[in-house]
Amino acid sequence: MIKNAKIVYHGGDYNPDQWDEKTVEEDMRLFHKAEINFVVLPVFSWAKLEPEEGVYDFGWLDKLMDTFEKNNIKVGMATPTTAQPAWLSKKYPEVLPVDKQGRKRTHGMRVFFCVNSPKYRERAAAIAEQMAKRYAKHPALALWHVANEYGTFCYCPTCEAKFRTWLKEKYGTLDNLNEKWNTAFWGRTLYSFDEIMLPTELNDDYRFNPSVNLDYRRFMTDSTIACFENEAQILRKYNPDITIQTNISGHIENLDQFKMVKHMDIAAWDNYPKPSDDKSFIAYKHDLMRGLNNGESYMMQEQSPNQQNWQPYSKLKRPGELRMLSYQAIAHGSDTCSYFQLRQSVAGQEMFHGAVISHAGHENTRTFREVSRIGAELSRMGDTFLGGKRPAKVGIVFDWDNWWALEYAAAYCLPNKNFNYLKRISKYHKVLFERNIPLDIISVDADFCKYDVVLAPYLFMTKTGLAERIETFVKQGGTFLTTTMSGIVDEYNRAVFGEYPGKLKELLGIWVEEVDALPPEEKNKIVMDAPEGFTKEAYVCANHCDIIHTRGAEVLAHYGKDFYVNQPVVTKHTYGDGTAYYVGTEPEDAFLADIIGKICTEKGIAAPYRTTGNVELTERVNDKYKTVFALNYDKENAAFIELGTQTWKEMITGQEVSGRYEIAPYDVAVFRKEGSPD
Ligand code: GLA
Ligand code: ZN
Repeated sequence: MIKNAKIVYHGGDYNPDQWDEKTVEEDMRLFHKAEINFVVLPVFSWAKLEPEEGVYDFGWLDKLMDTFEKNNIKVGMATPTTAQPAWLSKKYPEVLPVDKQGRKRTHGMRVFFCVNSPKYRERAAAIAEQMAKRYAKHPALALWHVANEYGTFCYCPTCEAKFRTWLKEKYGTLDNLNEKWNTAFWGRTLYSFDEIMLPTELNDDYRFNPSVNLDYRRFMTDSTIACFENEAQILRKYNPDITIQTNISGHIENLDQFKMVKHMDIAAWDNYPKPSDDKSFIAYKHDLMRGLNNGESYMMQEQSPNQQNWQPYSKLKRPGELRMLSYQAIAHGSDTCSYFQLRQSVAGQEMFHGAVISHAGHENTRTFREVSRIGAELSRMGDTFLGGKRPAKVGIVFDWDNWWALEYAAAYCLPNKNFNYLKRISKYHKVLFERNIPLDIISVDADFCKYDVVLAPYLFMTKTGLAERIETFVKQGGTFLTTTMSGIVDEYNRAVFGEYPGKLKELLGIWVEEVDALPPEEKNKIVMDAPEGFTKEAYVCANHCDIIHTRGAEVLAHYGKDFYVNQPVVTKHTYGDGTAYYVGTEPEDAFLADIIGKICTEKGIAAPYRTTGNVELTERVNDKYKTVFALNYDKENAAFIELGTQTWKEMITGQEVSGRYEIAPYDVAVFRKEGSPD
């Protein structure tokens, strides 16, 4: 959680360097009205803070800091290093990145620097140090926010040289690298580390080689971490009691976020759902963020108070939608409710992006009223759920190396194109989400034995030791489920010889001979042999069809047609005291709902409270309280929750409640259990 935080931070990005003193004064009035207690700045002010190399102007920021302190507003202070000043790019062009097409970029965009540039790092460290010296002990400082939304990949000569060094450190010898990359294929044997190139579009051989790409992404993750640490180490030195973080953009694929977040005090992310996104998909990303933070609370750092300006159709947030999204975030583990941005800018790239204070400039707007309502409600909750974790018995495995490797494989049609790992895993998550079953998203390094059920769909890459840890989990009574496209490669992205799914095959009691790929218009069938607990006799399946042979596993279902008709498609294997399931295809949603539902029922795992209708239900538990969040998404009908005999305090109305409680249409209830959290 955020160190020293005593309340939920409600606020967001503020750019007062764009406004005169009178406007700032008026903003203080408006912030109080909306119960805004937190601002993030000066994210983009490097050019203003350092107008020339080594010449700093902090006067305006000093004044603002004092204003915030006087107004009881906490500051998430950003190092402004996401957007270097023009003089820096001009004087030291090496700081500018080279893109995948090999184009040297010119100054302009933000996050438009080479993370490996020594000059960039030197100047970023210098301004971070100036800020740390000045503000590390400032009473208004709540946390440090380093740069903003890292993620630019660079292909410049510095990166190329560093990539070679990184590979030398990783592989030790060229022989080892040649072996692991299997360079003998297509005659790509390397005789010197200097022959290694970056996977740009100038070099199709490297661009398309999955081994090179995989290592390049790992290298870029490490380079970005080093770039973050370049500043974080300085900030830490001046006051180790201040939380240091940065924000993860919604586009999370580029960098291995499990690795990144290990270097931060808390995970933080920017929640910009598409208007068409299902609420379960947003919940899934929240759960992923909590997972990155090892189950601890995280920050929703940004969301738009109203429409975004970069969607193809920038739909307004509907009345009540922002409030629902805000509660969804805190219900899933966020300790902040934070917006981009507080005041809408007068011009520039994001002048039409939603803001708490719109171009109208006053409080008489729908958005301002909704933000004020959220602010007032959160204030009433104080520290009720702060730092609260979410107890769960089901874990879903998620892994970036696996994601990358799978999608490179899919690009070469193993077995078919357009494989979207994020979306495919979300289907498994959605089943639990719809049943309000608590779950954690966990890394491949997690302690599986903490859970009763571990779902690891599409576990393509089994890194050293992983299969053995899964075996231990199952032997001790755990239930494990994996799917087609699992156990196929090792951490070097080399096929595991000796039958798919490689190291998982004994545990699963099967082996897979071939994987068929179906074009979108072709389907097959999952015909149930063991229909107990399933709602249908047969289900549709698509995309991938594994041709499976059992070796000890029980066949739960077989294929309905094609040359592998009657061969197994879903299996179950007893292993030690536990059970391992294999789903050899891409089933329709109803099948997933049934099989996961059945597994949970067998394990006695259910929603913690009974609800009716379309309610999202979560619990958070901290040292003081257990809190239950119930979000009724139905815009027309009320829903009910059964709270049992225990007395709860409903935190929005302040009522003491128990038993059956009615939640109005499109409304939220937050129940705090009085007494001990257990
Ligand atoms: C990102 C950035 C913000 C802003 C928003 C707009 O998340 O961090 O600075 O540009 O997008 O949606
Ligand atoms: Zn570079």
